[in-house]
Amino acid sequence: MAETMQGLKRTHRCAEVTPADIGSTVTLMGWVQKRRNLGGMIFVDLRDRSGIMQIVFDENDIGSEGFEKAGLIRSEFVLAVTGRVEKRSGAVNEKLATGAMEVRAFSLRILSESETPPFPIEENSQTREELRLKYRYLDLRRPDIQRNLMVKSRVAGLARSFMASEGFLEIETPVLGKSTPEGARDYLVPSRVYPGSFFALPQSPQLFKQILMVAGYDRYFQIAKCFRDEDLRADRQPEFMQMDMELSFVDVDDVIDVNERLLKYLWKEILNIDLQVPFRRMTWAEAMERFGSDKPDLRFGMELTNVSDVVRGCGFSVFADAVSAGGSVRGINVKGQAGMPRKKIDSLVDFVRGYGLKGLAYLAVHEDGSFKCSFSKFMSEEELKKLADAMKAEKGDLLLFAADAKNKLVCETLGALRCELAKRLDMIDPSKFEFLWVVEFPLLEWSEEENRWTAMHHPFTMPMEEDLQYIDSDPGRVRAKAYDIVLNGCEIGGGSVRIHQNDIQEKMFECLGFTKEQAQEQFSFLLESFKYGVPPHAGLAYGLDRVVMLMLGLDTIRDVIAFPKVKDSSCMMTQAPAPVAQKQLDELGLIVRGSSENE
Ligand code: AMO
Ligand code: AMP
Repeated sequence: MAETMQGLKRTHRCAEVTPADIGSTVTLMGWVQKRRNLGGMIFVDLRDRSGIMQIVFDENDIGSEGFEKAGLIRSEFVLAVTGRVEKRSGAVNEKLATGAMEVRAFSLRILSESETPPFPIEENSQTREELRLKYRYLDLRRPDIQRNLMVKSRVAGLARSFMASEGFLEIETPVLGKSTPEGARDYLVPSRVYPGSFFALPQSPQLFKQILMVAGYDRYFQIAKCFRDEDLRADRQPEFMQMDMELSFVDVDDVIDVNERLLKYLWKEILNIDLQVPFRRMTWAEAMERFGSDKPDLRFGMELTNVSDVVRGCGFSVFADAVSAGGSVRGINVKGQAGMPRKKIDSLVDFVRGYGLKGLAYLAVHEDGSFKCSFSKFMSEEELKKLADAMKAEKGDLLLFAADAKNKLVCETLGALRCELAKRLDMIDPSKFEFLWVVEFPLLEWSEEENRWTAMHHPFTMPMEEDLQYIDSDPGRVRAKAYDIVLNGCEIGGGSVRIHQNDIQEKMFECLGFTKEQAQEQFSFLLESFKYGVPPHAGLAYGLDRVVMLMLGLDTIRDVIAFPKVKDSSCMMTQAPAPVAQKQLDELGLIVRGSSENE
């Protein structure tokens, strides 16, 4: 018996009613958060995206018929209520913006009824995420998720206006594109017109935005959907939003400058926080050496120390062998944790094993100056003391060491351990925003899997001029004009200066193991366009979801995406991906392996 709203117009959102409205008549429409029936009076908390207003149904105001109808109200019914705004008769609710007011209803329409929802719709829900995602429309009614999406909408709007004021043009690029190698796995879309041929969904607008520079558009900006078929994590979704930009006639510092101003503007407008610019900059090599990560979290210390020189040739073979094999031994100093129970240390050993390290050695410096050490059998007191000194250990400190013939494994494992410990020991100030530019990334990265050099950023990234001389003799030494913007240990954006000279581009393809013909075939349209006058250009893209997640201090980007996917990249609400009709497969000329109809 749902009623219509014919003849009624909403006058306010629930929480947009202010004390200035006291005494006037309003019409509110929204969902029932809560209903209390006190016999002679019925109280309803009415909710919309602005918040809550208390509605009072009193038979004296609304009449017996209306009061009877109010008795039918249940959670999540959709109501239209007309009434008078009054000072709250009962206790003021300090938690609500409208807590000092109420609306005394003199007319009620039940616009829609609701079944009992499978979970309560409330802030900080304890409900299992899978259930929340299955009923995402109910979950999206929760005030914290609504606030997240509102902030995201504001960030997008502010970014657009900032970029426009800086002379950027918003230009969209295709979603149906061409599969190109050298990225994550593509999502493919089969072509009906060309059976056996596929479009690829864009992993980023990279090539198109470079072509827009060739076309003279100078400054491009877009908030673009990107697709990557990767394993998911808390900060990774198969489809996500990039705030993407490209600029002509610029170098690294120009890109950094405009982006620092953009971030400063966003933080001021959204959080009223004044960020100090310029942000810190650190080379990739320094970040790896000091933090074991190319996206260091600077909200706490506990830096890595390389002690290879101290333990070279020592009696502890785990250490000595790692160094002699060309690897390293590195440690972190966990201040004041010498008393960490054995069980906790064991769980750290399990943690590093998860990264492929064989073990973790420890040395605790007790308050009386004595050592407790997992490798004391193999080293003299003198040697241990030297090691403790190298780590700047004081009484009460716990030193943790990782050793391996692979330097990268040592750094990355300790880098991860550093972050894990900071979390476990509550060393992170959640109110801090530590921005950092990581610059001078290596151009190339050796892939054990593919047994070849791969591009660390992408194949169009410009090498640093001073390193070009090593490109044949020692390709791993060449640094790139690539930069990432890191916030609190999360990569929120990245970009580079692009190659605009044919000879360097050809060299790059050669390093990556492409023949001229292969390169031509894979990237023909880009290379073709480069024949007709390419401006020097550079750009950057943010993960918009990540930016908003960190702005709001959230743990996962799923909380800033209306309809996110779960770990296996499926959608709990729509059940996508799903099989399609045989007719659709036939039209596309596709045969699904293992399906009986096709066999
Ligand atoms: P990159 O691959 O570094 O660069 O992507 C830019 C930023 O996008 C975010 N991001 C993601 N966010 C959520 N889920 C994902 N699966 C995901 N993958 C990436 C990250 C990342 O920093 N075309 C280049 C940019 C350029 O060179 O201009 C690019 O796409 O925050
Ligand atoms: P083991 O020789 O395996 O009994 O190890 C002796 C000590 O060395 C233990 O404390 C181990 O945890 C530690 N250890 C083993 N492998 C490593 C490694 N790769 N890095 C640091 N410590 C290790």
